[in-house]
Amino acid sequence: MMGWLEIRSLENSMTNVCFPRISAFAATILSISLFAGLANAQAPQQATLAKAAWMDKSLTADQRADLVLKELTLDEKISLIHGQGMPGWGPPKPNAHLGNGGAGFVMGIPRLGIPFIQMSDAAYGVRSSAMNGRYSTALPSNVGAAASWDTESACAYGALIGKELRAQGYNMTLGGGVNLTREPRNGRTFEYQGEDPVLAGTLVGNRIKCEQAQNVLGDIKHYAVNDQESGRNEVDSVISHRAMRESDLLAFEIGIAIGNPAAVMCSYNAINGDYACENKYVLTDVLKNEWKFPGFVLSDWGGTHSTVKASAAGLDNEQPEDIFYGDAFKKAVEAGTIPVAELDEHVRRILRSEFMAGLVDNPIKRSVVDVEGGFDTARKIEESSIVLLKNSGKVLPLNRSTIRSIAVIGDHADFGLISGGGSAQVDPPGKGEPFWLEHVWFPGSPQHAIAAKIPPAPIKFSSGKDIVEAANLAKTSDIAIVFVSQWTSEGMDLKDLSLPGNQNSLIAAVADANPKTIVVISSGTAVTMPWLSKVAGVLEAWYPGSKGADAIANVLFGDVNPSGKLPMTFPLSEADVPHPTVIQPPPHSESWKAVQKTGVATPSFAVHYDEGLLVGYKWYDAQKKPVLFPFGFGLSYTTYTYSGIKVSGGDKPSVTFTVTNSGTRAGTEIAEVYASLPADAQEPPKRLVAFTRVALNPGQSQQVTLAIDRKYLSIFDETANTWKLLPGSYTLMVGGSSASLPLTQAINLN
Ligand code: BGC
Repeated sequence: MMGWLEIRSLENSMTNVCFPRISAFAATILSISLFAGLANAQAPQQATLAKAAWMDKSLTADQRADLVLKELTLDEKISLIHGQGMPGWGPPKPNAHLGNGGAGFVMGIPRLGIPFIQMSDAAYGVRSSAMNGRYSTALPSNVGAAASWDTESACAYGALIGKELRAQGYNMTLGGGVNLTREPRNGRTFEYQGEDPVLAGTLVGNRIKCEQAQNVLGDIKHYAVNDQESGRNEVDSVISHRAMRESDLLAFEIGIAIGNPAAVMCSYNAINGDYACENKYVLTDVLKNEWKFPGFVLSDWGGTHSTVKASAAGLDNEQPEDIFYGDAFKKAVEAGTIPVAELDEHVRRILRSEFMAGLVDNPIKRSVVDVEGGFDTARKIEESSIVLLKNSGKVLPLNRSTIRSIAVIGDHADFGLISGGGSAQVDPPGKGEPFWLEHVWFPGSPQHAIAAKIPPAPIKFSSGKDIVEAANLAKTSDIAIVFVSQWTSEGMDLKDLSLPGNQNSLIAAVADANPKTIVVISSGTAVTMPWLSKVAGVLEAWYPGSKGADAIANVLFGDVNPSGKLPMTFPLSEADVPHPTVIQPPPHSESWKAVQKTGVATPSFAVHYDEGLLVGYKWYDAQKKPVLFPFGFGLSYTTYTYSGIKVSGGDKPSVTFTVTNSGTRAGTEIAEVYASLPADAQEPPKRLVAFTRVALNPGQSQQVTLAIDRKYLSIFDETANTWKLLPGSYTLMVGGSSASLPLTQAINLN
């Protein structure tokens, strides 16, 4: 299999991308020289600056931005609308020494007190911070954390990353991925928040809100319909406006409304013929005009393809270079092909974001990352993200008083747990081990965490490479726990959803040897489970982050009652997903490649998202296809019942119901509310419209009232180009999974 680095450098051949890992020594030298440069460049006369009109904190961010704008020369304006290169991205740029080692930076205007924007990737933690001489906390993957359906933990997630960014000298995150899981084989599914726009948008919005509260520029990406990695720089995503608005774009709309991010990163792909970073419909008509997004749009790395067209369409900032937004932009302004007012608009958006997020008033102060504090947050989030998928004969939680031996098998479980690759990759404390290619297992041994729970019992490990040896160990143990993984990364898609290598055979053989076999999956997306009927228990642990081992052991032994629910459907087979295969780009001639090198690219193939509105569970519902595990599904060590539904309509529709913990353990239930629209809406059978987490002691009941946003009951009318709530009868359904909704009540809405 080709590694991410190779794929990325191939894919981005037009900009000759590659991301070398650098030695610790080189990293230290780089980091020292970067900061020396930065300090000198940012040494304005503080006292004079403090009196500048735009430093008046009682003014709005827009007023302050306008005041700065008036002071700027043309060259200064241009310097704000492009990046200064990225380490490893082509030859070093003249200002490279002023960067912080991250994915990119934008020059500051030190004479006016405007700081540099130092950006770092930060999907599930601050990326590759070892380059910067520090480690970061690796949180569970984004799709994993989405399984908690928890806005508070989304906030904790963002706050932690925001804090660690600042500590490491960054003031902008490039996290905030929220592309919907239209294609579960998409290699970046782990960086996103699942298949439902209401869940995904709500969670990413809460993450961004709290991340940005740490005085970093928040970002939401990849806008939009960047739903596969194969040929991502040359694919045209063909999709109707209605489907886009009600699914992929709705996730962004909700995320932006809640999180108020400073920036939106436009994606590599084209949408209906125009590249996302020069697509007037998505950037100007929808994002800036309709949603009134006040921040700035920056291109994905190398995703800018023009000057005049991109600028007019609404792209504010080119990253990571200045191919189109440097001299070419200046010349276009001087020639009058780009009006000064248009340039000013880009600059104003960037400046107002810096004021809005507190960058100007709170200059970066580097500090030491709180590793222990980070671990605690990572463990708690993972504990609420693990999804218990199967628990036959109540094999879980493991009984400390009766179990005398445990076989721990497979996936380097004596060492650690796998992580997601690409620009999201984090270097966690303790340093991970790449066992092959770029696959990185984070330290924190599940074997040791399990052993710590049950000290006298022998906990033996088998690597699983030798299936017979593993099965023999399972046979002579009371319990067998098989750890398996599916590695995914940016720059590649999965061929299928099978566990790679010998893992399916390993599980089957171990389960044949010991019926008390529990499978713990670390995956970036759904996996198929041909062995499901043979095993007693299954935990989906996603990519569990720095404290995954402890979180998994806590769930296995019942110190934590699992509460996660799937943020995406697990299909029975990839034959059931809307597209039988991930569509690949055509082979290219040398002359085509030569043209692409200039950055003036054109899409070379299309993916027609004809399934339209039918994303995830909406597809399986409409097609009446059985699934392996439905969206919103997850078991607990206790049970819950639902009763007493009441719905009310009017301007603020709401639903009231009672959840009862009918079992014997305290737990947290995720209650889900779905709606069916009137038949003439021609919508999928149901859509998620509200959800909440309810913590309950055994026997305890709680009445819950959830407001339902009218937009979540509306459809996007393409002809009228507006959202409409159709008058008619709506059915609201409440329960613990998209496939188990015991409460139903109809309501008429006007
Ligand atoms: C990725 C972005 C990332 C950027 C900078 C791109 O290839 O698509 O998500 O933020 O690189 O590393």
